[in-house]
Amino acid sequence: MGCSCSEKQLSAPGVDTALLEPYLSQYADKEGSLISVLQKAQEIYGWLPSGLLLYIARRMGVPPAKVIGVVTFYTQFRTKPVGKHLILLCQGTACHVNGSPAIEEAVREHLGVEEGEISANGLFTYNNVACLGCCSLAPAMMIGESTYGGLTKEKAVKILKEIEREDTAG
Ligand code: FES
Repeated sequence: MGCSCSEKQLSAPGVDTALLEPYLSQYADKEGSLISVLQKAQEIYGWLPSGLLLYIARRMGVPPAKVIGVVTFYTQFRTKPVGKHLILLCQGTACHVNGSPAIEEAVREHLGVEEGEISANGLFTYNNVACLGCCSLAPAMMIGESTYGGLTKEKAVKILKEIEREDTAG
């Protein structure tokens, strides 16, 4: 009986790998491009499921252990699903002294989740991160590509409510 391991490795259950294909075709054979392929994959899918990591390893001809090693080494990579909007709450020094712990408390209470979990409506996940590089705006957070600064507890919750309203309206 023939073995179908290679076929299995070339599919990633529940993930449309076609979205990553243009990038893989361009970079799969280029040495040193594993991190940028993983970054692109995370940009497309929001996180990196294990089936996708195996697929990338197979397509790039690198051992799965190496791919998994890279993903677990760099904190930028996510191996758990996230909500539609990823909130990055800055807990760097400038933000911390300007009240970021209280912002986290307000965000956590509003969403009803702990760090890394998905809110019940599927819209948000929040993660604490080190300096976002915009300390003059402290305390700050990013949601997707947008940066929000000068936060108070009320302002942070208002921003979340606005996004919720836009999402449910559209
Ligand atoms: S410490 Fe928060 S942006 Fe720098």
